[in-house]
Amino acid sequence: MASLKDEINRRRTFAIISHPDAGKTTLTEKFLLYGGAIAQAGAVKGKKNSRHAVSDWMEIEKQRGISVTSSVMQFQYGGYCINILDTPGHQDFSEDTYRTLMAADSAVMVIDASKGVENQTRKLFKVCVMRHIPIFTFINKMDREARSPFDLVEQIESELGIQTYPVNWPIGCGKEFKGVYDREKKHIISFENEDETAFGKHKAAATEVELGDPSLDELIGAELHSTLSDDIELLDGASYDFDIDKVRHGELSPVFFGSALTNFGVEPFLERFLEMTTSPTARMSSEGLIDPFSEDFSAFVFKIQANMNKAHRDRITFLRVCSGKFDKEMDVLHVQGNKKMRLSQPQQIMAQEREIIDEAYAGDIIGVFDPGIFAIGDTICSPKRKFEFEPIPTFAPEHFMRVRQKDTLKRKQFEKGTAQIAQEGAIQIFKEPDTGLEEVIVGVVGVLQLEVFEYRMKNEYNCELFKEGLSYSYIRWIDNKDIDVKKLKLSSDTKVVQDFKGNFLLLFTSEWNIRWALEKNEGLELSEFNRGALQ
Ligand code: G4P
Repeated sequence: MASLKDEINRRRTFAIISHPDAGKTTLTEKFLLYGGAIAQAGAVKGKKNSRHAVSDWMEIEKQRGISVTSSVMQFQYGGYCINILDTPGHQDFSEDTYRTLMAADSAVMVIDASKGVENQTRKLFKVCVMRHIPIFTFINKMDREARSPFDLVEQIESELGIQTYPVNWPIGCGKEFKGVYDREKKHIISFENEDETAFGKHKAAATEVELGDPSLDELIGAELHSTLSDDIELLDGASYDFDIDKVRHGELSPVFFGSALTNFGVEPFLERFLEMTTSPTARMSSEGLIDPFSEDFSAFVFKIQANMNKAHRDRITFLRVCSGKFDKEMDVLHVQGNKKMRLSQPQQIMAQEREIIDEAYAGDIIGVFDPGIFAIGDTICSPKRKFEFEPIPTFAPEHFMRVRQKDTLKRKQFEKGTAQIAQEGAIQIFKEPDTGLEEVIVGVVGVLQLEVFEYRMKNEYNCELFKEGLSYSYIRWIDNKDIDVKKLKLSSDTKVVQDFKGNFLLLFTSEWNIRWALEKNEGLELSEFNRGALQ
C-alpha cells in the first residue's frame, strides 16, 4: 500500500489560465484523454454551447453548475495523481477565478500564437507572480498563422516581467508548420496534420537529428532547416539558461509550442511539466509553514458555490487539502467557528462526475456540503493541532453599483442578504465613511455577479433594490497605516470608501487618476490586493 508520503508526492495540483478562446478547454480535454478520464473529445466542451439568459438565476446556476463540474478535475497519468483547476473566463470571470489560483501549486498559461499575451491572462498572471508559483507556458494554435516565436517570448518577458526558457521551438507555422525541435533532447517531433484523433502518434514521431544534417532538408525543407538552425543558435546564445530553481519560484517560465486541437505537442508538454513542477507545497499559517507531509489533516476554503434551489440554502464549499490525509469518518475542527465536526458528504469531481469520497490527500480538492457556516479563507484542521492559514487576499473589483432596499421595512433582509452573499465571496461591499448601512457600494470582478446579486436579493431575501451604476473601474486599498484620508489630495472624481473591516480604499475612474493620486501624495501606498494578515 502506498504510504502517505508517496500519495502526497505523486500529486500535482495546477490551475490552467488563458484568455478566452486561446484553447484552455481543448488542452484540458487532451490531458484528460491521455489520463483516460474521458473517453472522447468533446466531453468537456458542453459549457460553451449553453449560452445563458443573463438575468435568469436558475440558468446562471445551471451554467455555473456545469462550470463547477468541469472546474476541478482529477485524473491519473504516468503514476501521478493530477488535479486541474479550471479558471472560468468570459462572463463567468469573477473573484472565484483569482481565488482558484490560491488553491493551485503551479499554473499553466495557454497563449494563442496569433495573439500573444491578452488582457485576462495578464490579470491572472499577476496573482501567480504574487504567489511565486511556477508558471508554464503553452503557446497554442501553431497549426494556424502565428506571430514570430521570438516576438511571443519577448512579449511574455516584457509584459509579464518573467524570464522564459523555450523547451522546444516551432518549425514554421500554419500550413507550413512542420513540428517542433526539442532543445534538450535535440530531436524533431514532426507534425502531420491528417488525423486529429490519433493519440500518441506525435510522441512516436520524434526523429533524432543533428541540426545541419542534410536529412533534415528532406524532413522539413531546406529553408525551414536553415531558419531553425539560426533560431536555435540565437536562442542558445541569447536566451536564459534553464534553472529548475527559478522555475519552481516562478521566475522562469518554461515555454512549449504546440497545437492542442490537432493534439500536437500535448503529451510531451504534459510529461515535462509533471517532472518540472512541484508536489504540494507548504502553506503559511499562524504557526509558520505547514508541511504537506505532516500526519495531521488541514485544509482551507477557497470557493463557495451557492445552491440553485431556493428551498435549500445549503451550499458546496470547496477545500484545498494542505497537509496529511482526509478521511470521511474523521473529526475535524472548523477553526473560525471554533467547532468540532465531521465534514458532510465530501465529494470529489472526477472529470464529469461527482463522487462521494472516503479519503483525500494534501494537494486534492474536495467539495463538502455546507449549511452556511464556512467563509472564504477559513481553516479546517485536525483538532489535535489548531492554527489558521494565512487569509486569502481580496482582489480589486472592477464594476461598482450603489444599492439600497426599495422597501425601508426590509432593512434586516437587506443587511442579511448583502452580508451572506459577500461571505460566499461573490461580491464585496463597501460604504462611504460617515454614512449608515442602509446604502452600500457593491463591487464585483465580473459584471455577471452584479446581476446574480440583484436576482438573489429579490428571490432569496425578498428584497428589491434601488441601484445606481457607478462609473468607477479601479479600486485600491490604502496600505499606509494611520493615514488621515481627509488630508489626501485627490481628483474630484476619486471617492474614499471603507470595507467592512474598516480599511480605507480609493475608487478611481481611470488609471491616470491613480497615478495622479500617487504623485500628489508622497508616500501613499496603494495595492490591488488586500492581503489581510499578510500585511
Ligand atoms: P478556451 O477554453 O480557452 O476558451 O478555448 P477553447 O479550447 O474552447 O478553444 C477556442 C477555439 O479554438 C475552439 O474553436 C477550438 O477548437 C480552437 N482551438 C483550440 N486549440 C486549437 C489549435 O491548436 N489549433 C486551432 N486551429 N484551433 C484551436 P471554436 O470554433 O470556437 O469552437 P469549437 O466549435 O471547435 O468547439
